[in-house]
Amino acid sequence: MATSIAICSGKGGVGKSNVTVNLAMVYQSLGKRVAILDADFGMANTHILMGVNPEFYISEVISGEKTISEIGCKGPNGVNIYSGGSGLLDMLNLDQSKRFQTIRLMDEIEDQIDILLIDVPAGASDNSVSFVSAADSAVIVLVGEPTSFLDAYSFIKACHLEMEMVNFTIVVNMANSATEAKRHFDRFNEIAMQFLDVRLRFGGHIPMSQRIRKAVVSRKPITTQKSDLPEVIAFQSVAKQVLDAPVNKTNGIRFFQKGMSGGG
Ligand SMILES: Nc1ncnc2c1ncn2[C@@H]1O[C@H](COP(=O)(O)OP(=O)(O)OP(=O)(O)O)[C@@H](O)[C@H]1O
Ligand SMILES: [Mg+2]
Repeated sequence: MATSIAICSGKGGVGKSNVTVNLAMVYQSLGKRVAILDADFGMANTHILMGVNPEFYISEVISGEKTISEIGCKGPNGVNIYSGGSGLLDMLNLDQSKRFQTIRLMDEIEDQIDILLIDVPAGASDNSVSFVSAADSAVIVLVGEPTSFLDAYSFIKACHLEMEMVNFTIVVNMANSATEAKRHFDRFNEIAMQFLDVRLRFGGHIPMSQRIRKAVVSRKPITTQKSDLPEVIAFQSVAKQVLDAPVNKTNGIRFFQKGMSGGG
């Protein structure tokens, strides 16, 4: 059975898409068959970071014009991207039935993949909470800024109160050092534990890096470059932590659980 991992943050622009794409590259290089669902509908951009241009989008599957297999677009190393489309204003606020339809659509490719990574839009909208609570595990990308802390906290609170989620893996992005990253995690964990009955795990950190910026500009994920770069080693370490994360067993609709209403 395929594993589903949602990458989210609360705050925008903290590096979710970059983390999604590079985790996909690392898992694929470990021999896993990986797909990305770019659930940032209407503003999808993981394909840009991977240097490919999808011809079709999830909206065409929802409207019945295409099947999910027909819209899959191959990125570097054979990672498949299912894109929510960019510049599609009508996709920005999917209603509940379309969200559920999208989650069920992925059942069709379950046999072809081992890991599905979901790039979840910023904010604590119904869209974001639905996709995160449908996944086996939730990764929260945090940066060391009060706004990121606040938005990540609000997002975790929404997932916990609305969907009873308890397990979250926190990845500190754009960190200046391992020590600083761990300090950010400890501080954030302290705040969360004070008010919410949740379990946060430290999933490691990704350094603040000009090489990562350059990789974004050149549309070649950093993890497809030299394997001994500290950034690549950081992504490999985070990838391992994320796979070891405990599964969330929420009620409600979930990825790859056809016809089930409760979590398994
Ligand atoms: N570790 C890093 N070091 C330096 N720059 C980074 C790092 N991670 C991400 N960035 C830069 O931060 C910007 C935002 O990254 P990204 O698009 O992945 O964020 P996001 O959370 O997906 O944003 P959005 O909320 O808009 O979807 C990009 O310009 C990227 O180059
Ligand atoms: Mg993004």
